[in-house]
Amino acid sequence: MNIKTFSTHEELSEQSAQYIFEIIQKKIGETGTFVLGLATGASPRLMYQKLIQKLGTSDLDLSGLHTFNLDEYYPIRQGHPQSYFQEMYHGFWKPLHDLNQSFEITNGHILNGEAPNPDMECRIYEKMIQKTGGVDLQVLGLGINGHIGFNEPGSAGDTRTRQIDLTPETREANKKYFGDDLEKVPEHGMTMGIGTILESKEIVMIVTGEKKKEVFEKLQRLSAPTEDIPASFLLNHTKTTFYSDLA
Ligand code: F6R
Repeated sequence: MNIKTFSTHEELSEQSAQYIFEIIQKKIGETGTFVLGLATGASPRLMYQKLIQKLGTSDLDLSGLHTFNLDEYYPIRQGHPQSYFQEMYHGFWKPLHDLNQSFEITNGHILNGEAPNPDMECRIYEKMIQKTGGVDLQVLGLGINGHIGFNEPGSAGDTRTRQIDLTPETREANKKYFGDDLEKVPEHGMTMGIGTILESKEIVMIVTGEKKKEVFEKLQRLSAPTEDIPASFLLNHTKTTFYSDLA
Protein backbone atom coordinates (compact mmCIF):
# COMPACT_ATOMS: atom_id res chain seq x y z
CA MET A 1 0.00 0.00 0.00
CA ASN A 2 1.23 3.42 -0.89
CA ILE A 3 0.45 5.58 2.18
CA LYS A 4 1.41 9.22 2.65
CA THR A 5 0.98 10.36 6.23
CA PHE A 6 0.56 13.99 7.31
CA SER A 7 0.46 15.47 10.78
CA THR A 8 -2.68 17.55 10.20
CA HIS A 9 -5.86 17.49 8.10
CA GLU A 10 -4.84 20.87 6.72
CA GLU A 11 -1.51 19.52 5.47
CA LEU A 12 -3.12 16.40 4.01
CA SER A 13 -5.66 18.56 2.19
CA GLU A 14 -3.02 20.97 0.86
CA GLN A 15 -0.69 18.22 -0.36
CA SER A 16 -3.40 16.11 -1.99
CA ALA A 17 -4.91 19.21 -3.66
CA GLN A 18 -1.51 20.25 -4.98
CA TYR A 19 -0.84 16.75 -6.31
CA ILE A 20 -4.23 16.52 -8.05
CA PHE A 21 -3.81 20.04 -9.44
CA GLU A 22 -0.48 19.09 -11.01
CA ILE A 23 -1.89 15.89 -12.55
CA ILE A 24 -4.82 17.84 -14.05
CA GLN A 25 -2.53 20.63 -15.27
CA LYS A 26 -0.24 18.14 -17.01
CA LYS A 27 -2.94 16.15 -18.80
CA ILE A 28 -5.00 19.22 -19.77
CA GLY A 29 -1.79 20.72 -21.16
CA GLU A 30 -1.15 17.58 -23.22
CA THR A 31 -4.64 16.55 -24.35
CA GLY A 32 -7.06 19.33 -23.35
CA THR A 33 -9.19 16.91 -21.33
CA PHE A 34 -9.37 15.48 -17.83
CA VAL A 35 -11.94 13.27 -16.11
CA LEU A 36 -11.95 13.71 -12.34
CA GLY A 37 -13.93 11.31 -10.13
CA LEU A 38 -15.37 12.96 -7.02
CA ALA A 39 -16.62 11.73 -3.66
CA THR A 40 -18.93 13.67 -1.37
CA GLY A 41 -18.59 13.78 2.42
CA ALA A 42 -16.33 15.49 4.91
CA SER A 43 -13.00 13.84 4.04
CA PRO A 44 -12.21 15.67 0.78
CA ARG A 45 -14.04 18.94 1.56
CA LEU A 46 -11.03 21.05 2.49
CA MET A 47 -8.98 19.48 -0.31
CA TYR A 48 -11.72 20.51 -2.77
CA GLN A 49 -11.61 24.11 -1.51
CA LYS A 50 -7.89 24.21 -2.10
CA LEU A 51 -8.10 22.47 -5.48
CA ILE A 52 -10.81 24.88 -6.62
CA GLN A 53 -8.56 27.82 -5.65
CA LYS A 54 -5.64 26.36 -7.57
CA LEU A 55 -7.64 25.46 -10.69
CA GLY A 56 -9.80 28.55 -10.49
CA THR A 57 -6.95 31.04 -10.29
CA SER A 58 -4.79 29.28 -12.88
CA ASP A 59 -4.86 30.21 -16.54
CA LEU A 60 -5.81 26.63 -17.48
CA ASP A 61 -8.53 26.13 -20.06
CA LEU A 62 -10.91 23.89 -18.11
CA SER A 63 -13.46 23.44 -20.90
CA GLY A 64 -12.31 19.81 -21.25
CA LEU A 65 -12.59 19.06 -17.52
CA HIS A 66 -15.40 16.65 -16.64
CA THR A 67 -16.25 15.42 -13.15
CA PHE A 68 -18.15 12.24 -12.29
CA ASN A 69 -19.45 11.64 -8.78
CA LEU A 70 -19.35 8.24 -7.18
CA ASP A 71 -22.85 8.06 -5.86
CA GLU A 72 -26.18 9.62 -4.95
CA TYR A 73 -29.04 8.75 -2.62
CA TYR A 74 -32.12 7.17 -4.19
CA PRO A 75 -34.70 8.43 -4.40
CA ILE A 76 -33.89 12.05 -3.70
CA ARG A 77 -34.81 15.31 -5.42
CA GLN A 78 -31.83 17.08 -6.97
CA GLY A 79 -33.06 20.21 -5.17
CA HIS A 80 -33.08 18.48 -1.76
CA PRO A 81 -30.51 20.28 0.44
CA GLN A 82 -28.91 16.93 1.36
CA SER A 83 -28.68 15.53 -2.16
CA TYR A 84 -25.15 14.93 -3.33
CA PHE A 85 -26.12 17.00 -6.38
CA GLN A 86 -26.49 20.07 -4.12
CA GLU A 87 -23.28 19.27 -2.24
CA MET A 88 -21.30 19.19 -5.47
CA TYR A 89 -23.09 22.15 -7.05
CA HIS A 90 -22.29 24.41 -4.08
CA GLY A 91 -19.05 22.72 -3.00
CA PHE A 92 -17.33 22.22 -6.35
CA TRP A 93 -18.94 23.01 -9.70
CA LYS A 94 -20.31 26.50 -9.00
CA PRO A 95 -17.33 27.90 -7.03
CA LEU A 96 -14.96 26.55 -9.69
CA HIS A 97 -17.02 28.05 -12.50
CA ASP A 98 -17.19 31.38 -10.63
CA LEU A 99 -13.39 31.52 -10.48
CA ASN A 100 -12.63 30.09 -13.92
CA GLN A 101 -15.53 30.31 -16.34
CA SER A 102 -13.96 27.91 -18.81
CA PHE A 103 -15.22 25.14 -16.49
CA GLU A 104 -18.76 24.30 -17.59
CA ILE A 105 -21.11 23.39 -14.74
CA THR A 106 -22.83 21.02 -17.20
CA ASN A 107 -19.59 19.01 -17.25
CA GLY A 108 -20.22 18.07 -13.61
CA HIS A 109 -21.97 14.68 -13.76
CA ILE A 110 -23.80 12.84 -11.01
CA LEU A 111 -26.30 9.98 -10.90
CA ASN A 112 -29.82 11.38 -10.98
CA GLY A 113 -31.65 10.58 -7.75
CA GLU A 114 -34.93 11.45 -9.49
CA ALA A 115 -34.46 9.04 -12.42
CA PRO A 116 -37.68 7.08 -13.04
CA ASN A 117 -35.68 3.95 -13.87
CA PRO A 118 -32.61 3.74 -11.61
CA ASP A 119 -31.21 0.63 -13.32
CA MET A 120 -31.22 2.36 -16.68
CA GLU A 121 -29.78 5.51 -15.07
CA CYS A 122 -26.84 3.43 -13.77
CA ARG A 123 -26.22 1.84 -17.17
CA ILE A 124 -26.31 5.20 -18.93
CA TYR A 125 -23.90 6.65 -16.34
CA GLU A 126 -21.36 3.88 -16.97
CA LYS A 127 -21.58 4.51 -20.72
CA MET A 128 -21.13 8.23 -20.20
CA ILE A 129 -17.96 7.68 -18.15
CA GLN A 130 -16.57 5.46 -20.89
CA LYS A 131 -17.59 7.87 -23.66
CA THR A 132 -15.82 10.71 -21.86
CA GLY A 133 -12.61 8.64 -21.84
CA GLY A 134 -12.74 6.94 -18.42
CA VAL A 135 -11.80 8.41 -15.05
CA ASP A 136 -8.24 9.77 -14.98
CA LEU A 137 -8.16 10.25 -11.21
CA GLN A 138 -10.77 9.18 -8.68
CA VAL A 139 -11.01 10.78 -5.24
CA LEU A 140 -12.35 8.48 -2.50
CA GLY A 141 -13.23 8.73 1.18
CA LEU A 142 -13.29 5.73 3.51
CA GLY A 143 -16.52 4.65 5.22
CA ILE A 144 -16.26 3.59 8.86
CA ASN A 145 -17.40 0.12 7.74
CA GLY A 146 -14.86 0.13 4.92
CA HIS A 147 -17.26 1.14 2.17
CA ILE A 148 -16.21 3.10 -0.89
CA GLY A 149 -18.92 5.04 -2.69
CA PHE A 150 -22.03 3.24 -1.48
CA ASN A 151 -20.39 -0.16 -1.99
CA GLU A 152 -21.20 -1.64 1.37
CA PRO A 153 -19.57 -4.75 2.93
CA GLY A 154 -20.56 -7.77 0.85
CA SER A 155 -20.04 -5.92 -2.46
CA ALA A 156 -18.01 -7.94 -4.94
CA GLY A 157 -14.87 -6.62 -6.58
CA ASP A 158 -16.39 -6.72 -10.06
CA THR A 159 -19.60 -4.80 -9.31
CA ARG A 160 -20.72 -2.12 -11.75
CA THR A 161 -22.76 1.06 -11.24
CA ARG A 162 -26.03 -0.02 -9.66
CA GLN A 163 -28.78 0.64 -7.17
CA ILE A 164 -28.06 -0.58 -3.61
CA ASP A 165 -29.67 -0.72 -0.16
CA LEU A 166 -27.88 1.43 2.40
CA THR A 167 -26.76 -0.45 5.52
CA PRO A 168 -28.06 0.62 8.95
CA GLU A 169 -24.48 1.81 9.83
CA THR A 170 -24.29 4.11 6.83
CA ARG A 171 -27.80 5.49 7.39
CA GLU A 172 -26.91 6.03 11.05
CA ALA A 173 -23.61 7.76 10.12
CA ASN A 174 -25.42 10.04 7.65
CA LYS A 175 -28.44 10.94 9.77
CA LYS A 176 -26.56 13.96 11.14
CA TYR A 177 -27.15 15.52 7.71
CA PHE A 178 -30.92 14.87 7.93
CA GLY A 179 -31.69 16.70 11.18
CA ASP A 180 -30.64 13.60 13.18
CA ASP A 181 -33.79 11.88 11.94
CA LEU A 182 -33.04 8.37 10.67
CA GLU A 183 -36.45 8.16 8.99
CA LYS A 184 -35.47 11.00 6.69
CA VAL A 185 -32.33 9.24 5.41
CA PRO A 186 -33.15 7.54 2.08
CA GLU A 187 -33.01 3.74 2.22
CA HIS A 188 -31.28 3.31 -1.13
CA GLY A 189 -28.53 4.76 -3.19
CA MET A 190 -26.93 4.44 -6.60
CA THR A 191 -23.20 4.00 -6.80
CA MET A 192 -20.34 3.35 -9.17
CA GLY A 193 -19.38 -0.29 -8.63
CA ILE A 194 -16.07 -1.45 -7.24
CA GLY A 195 -15.17 -2.76 -10.70
CA THR A 196 -16.02 0.65 -12.13
CA ILE A 197 -13.87 2.43 -9.54
CA LEU A 198 -10.93 0.09 -10.15
CA GLU A 199 -10.93 1.09 -13.83
CA SER A 200 -9.85 4.62 -12.83
CA LYS A 201 -6.31 5.26 -14.03
CA GLU A 202 -5.34 6.62 -10.63
CA ILE A 203 -6.98 6.80 -7.19
CA VAL A 204 -6.44 9.17 -4.27
CA MET A 205 -8.07 7.89 -1.07
CA ILE A 206 -8.40 10.41 1.77
CA VAL A 207 -8.34 8.82 5.23
CA THR A 208 -8.87 11.42 7.92
CA GLY A 209 -10.05 11.57 11.53
CA GLU A 210 -9.90 9.20 14.50
CA LYS A 211 -13.17 7.51 13.50
CA LYS A 212 -11.38 5.93 10.54
CA LYS A 213 -8.49 4.56 12.59
CA GLU A 214 -9.95 1.12 13.31
CA VAL A 215 -10.98 0.33 9.75
CA PHE A 216 -7.74 1.76 8.31
CA GLU A 217 -5.70 -0.44 10.64
CA LYS A 218 -7.73 -3.49 9.58
CA LEU A 219 -7.15 -2.57 5.95
CA GLN A 220 -3.41 -2.34 6.46
CA ARG A 221 -3.27 -5.79 8.06
CA LEU A 222 -4.89 -7.48 5.04
CA SER A 223 -2.80 -9.25 2.46
CA ALA A 224 -5.68 -9.83 0.01
CA PRO A 225 -9.02 -8.10 -0.70
CA THR A 226 -12.14 -9.19 1.16
CA GLU A 227 -15.78 -8.28 0.56
CA ASP A 228 -16.01 -7.53 4.32
CA ILE A 229 -13.99 -4.36 3.68
CA PRO A 230 -14.83 -3.08 0.18
CA ALA A 231 -11.93 -0.59 0.26
CA SER A 232 -9.58 -3.60 0.38
CA PHE A 233 -10.17 -4.12 -3.36
CA LEU A 234 -7.93 -1.09 -3.80
CA LEU A 235 -5.08 -3.48 -2.96
CA ASN A 236 -5.65 -4.76 -6.54
CA HIS A 237 -5.19 -1.28 -8.01
CA THR A 238 -1.65 -0.42 -8.96
CA LYS A 239 -1.94 3.36 -8.73
CA THR A 240 -3.75 4.09 -5.47
CA THR A 241 -2.31 6.45 -2.88
CA PHE A 242 -3.75 6.75 0.63
CA TYR A 243 -3.44 10.28 2.07
CA SER A 244 -3.82 9.89 5.83
CA ASP A 245 -3.57 12.10 8.89
CA LEU A 246 -3.62 9.12 11.27
CA ALA A 247 -0.36 8.43 13.05
C1 F6R B 1 -19.63 9.68 -0.66
C2 F6R B 1 -18.88 8.45 -0.55
C3 F6R B 1 -18.67 7.77 0.76
C4 F6R B 1 -17.78 8.60 1.69
C5 F6R B 1 -17.53 7.87 3.01
C6 F6R B 1 -16.73 8.70 3.98
O1 F6R B 1 -19.72 10.08 -2.01
O2 F6R B 1 -18.43 7.98 -1.55
O3 F6R B 1 -18.12 6.52 0.53
O4 F6R B 1 -16.56 8.86 1.04
O5 F6R B 1 -18.75 7.54 3.60
O6 F6R B 1 -17.50 9.80 4.34
P1 F6R B 1 -16.84 11.03 5.15
O7 F6R B 1 -15.79 11.59 4.28
O8 F6R B 1 -17.98 12.00 5.35
O9 F6R B 1 -16.31 10.46 6.40
